[in-house]
Amino acid sequence: MKLSGKVAVVTGAASGMGKSIAELLAEQGAKVVISDLNLENANKVVQGIQGNGGSAIAVPANVAVEEDVQRLIESTVTQFGTVDILVNNAGIMDNFVPVGDVTDELWEKVFAVNATGPMRTIRKALPIFLEKKSGVIVNIASAGGLFGSRAGVAYTASKHAVVGITKSVGFQYATQGIRCNAIAPGGVNTNIGASLTAPNSFGVERVMAGMGISPRLGEPEEIAKVALFLASDESSFVNGTTITADAGWTAY
Ligand SMILES: NC(=O)c1ccc[n+]([C@@H]2O[C@H](COP(=O)([O-])OP(=O)(O)OC[C@H]3O[C@@H](n4cnc5c(N)ncnc54)[C@H](O)[C@@H]3O)[C@@H](O)[C@H]2O)c1
Repeated sequence: MKLSGKVAVVTGAASGMGKSIAELLAEQGAKVVISDLNLENANKVVQGIQGNGGSAIAVPANVAVEEDVQRLIESTVTQFGTVDILVNNAGIMDNFVPVGDVTDELWEKVFAVNATGPMRTIRKALPIFLEKKSGVIVNIASAGGLFGSRAGVAYTASKHAVVGITKSVGFQYATQGIRCNAIAPGGVNTNIGASLTAPNSFGVERVMAGMGISPRLGEPEEIAKVALFLASDESSFVNGTTITADAGWTAY
């Protein structure tokens, strides 16, 4: 077991990659906090983990709301005593809306969840990490955090922000026992399509221009294995970087 005795918080853990990451961390001995907007599905993930002999609790939280983030980390400490691993996975798409059509409302909503959320969870967990001179952060960015047309402008910019947060935190706290890395997945088979309510036709056309070179879709379990590597001591010398997990899509 690679994570015996560790306490992990995973945001957006009721579905997709977050669920797979939470399940794999629990399988490796971590006590896991399943946090999500959707408490019903979060509870199902908890039951699954407990059914396999693991330890997990559900804490509802909207990562875009500061009070929720405060309560999430405080509840984790109350229940499990500390936080060792923070996985910032919660994220939403932007209907592929290009800059010509983006509204301030859409821009702010996507940034609030995808970029401000991770900043706030890190800000709240940091004093705990600093006190024990140990802590690991894994951010789920995207191929859209490294390149220009995997989504609309708000998603692309917000995921570039996640890569920037990763570098900033990784370097600035490196001497204090804290590591911060990101994963940039290509297309993965999850429920994120449900947040595509009204795809912008121009945006879709510009996104689809590069989809043909994607070798294949990934499965959430394949991203979870990368997250486990980054969350464990196996990656002790890896910090402030973003690992692509996309079957080679972005290598073209
Ligand atoms: N699926 C892909 O192709 C893909 C590719 C690259 C990156 N990503 C990123 O992976 C991450 C996980 O996405 P997924 O594909 O597993 O999607 P998903 O929709 O299956 O799961 C996302 C979960 O996050 C939760 N969530 C949404 N907004 C939230 C909020 N404000 N606060 C708390 N929880 C919230 C949802 O309820 C859901 O359970 C996201 O950050 C996404 O941007 C996805």
